[in-house]
Amino acid sequence: KTISVIGVPMDLGQGRRGVDMGPSAIRYAGLKERIQRLGYTVKDQGNINVPTAEAHDIDNDSLKYLPEVVQVSQDLSHKVAEVIAKDHFPIILGGDHSIAIGSIAGLATHHKNLGVIWFDAHADFNTSETSPSGNIHGMPLSCTVGIGHEDLTHINGYAKKVKNEHVVIVGARSVDPEERELLKQHGITCFTMHEIDKMGIAKVMEEAIRIAGEGTDGIHLSLDLDSIDPDMCPGVGTPVLGGVTYREGHLAMEMLYQSGKVVSCDLVEVNPILDEGNKTARTAVDLVCSLLGESVM
Ligand code: ARG
Ligand code: MN
Ligand code: MN
Ligand code: MN
Repeated sequence: KTISVIGVPMDLGQGRRGVDMGPSAIRYAGLKERIQRLGYTVKDQGNINVPTAEAHDIDNDSLKYLPEVVQVSQDLSHKVAEVIAKDHFPIILGGDHSIAIGSIAGLATHHKNLGVIWFDAHADFNTSETSPSGNIHGMPLSCTVGIGHEDLTHINGYAKKVKNEHVVIVGARSVDPEERELLKQHGITCFTMHEIDKMGIAKVMEEAIRIAGEGTDGIHLSLDLDSIDPDMCPGVGTPVLGGVTYREGHLAMEMLYQSGKVVSCDLVEVNPILDEGNKTARTAVDLVCSLLGESVM
């Protein structure tokens, strides 16, 4: 099996610079070598071009850098569509989470009925009306199911890349009030930290894999590193205490591997400027290796 790595040095979906260095940090942590050791062929496709924040003005405070984010989403979608057509497994390196709009749009060109597991401290289900920040990285999941600004929902000319009932959020612990209402209104399944504590990560993942995997033609894992507790992943723009532990994270990835249903993944929100050493990127690489079948015995 061939893995295609696509970097997206995107930092226009949120306020803090530094997350544009995420793809470098994850590559530097040994991504390619570690995956090759598992027996895969790895092709690094380089980076998608992202406009420089300082060279562009924000002309809409409730949808910051909208035209630039739309352009990058379209370019990323084309790249993902190209590698998925070759039957590669794409690993998309962010960048902030707004890149998932483009990665899922690209996957949807091939997978007409995709399931999505959104592993995140946040729900990323805001619209310009509900967002407290105007940051598009808080909106990619709603865009993916067809809710939000038309330019973002209609990448490739149509909306609703994924059905609501095939979307699962895991690890949430920071959801905005109106965002919560929107999630309920649209019937999105959300396993918060409360459910993880109560049911255990194994049961939560079993359910998540069932919801995203049954009756779909594959699961896309969108892994926001702020899902993991800041003790192992301090290098993220929006850290939230009380996250998924390193061990729970690994078990979740191992269960996804064992399901045999995962077709692609995003690794997002790694910000080396805020990191301790390169701990967050190293954790990202460790987790993706478990997702790809690394095991002790
Ligand atoms: N809910 C907040 C917002 O809309 C934070 C979103 C954080 N998203 C992320 N991908 N880290 O601004
Ligand atoms: Mn996110
Ligand atoms: Mn997040
Ligand atoms: Mn179904």
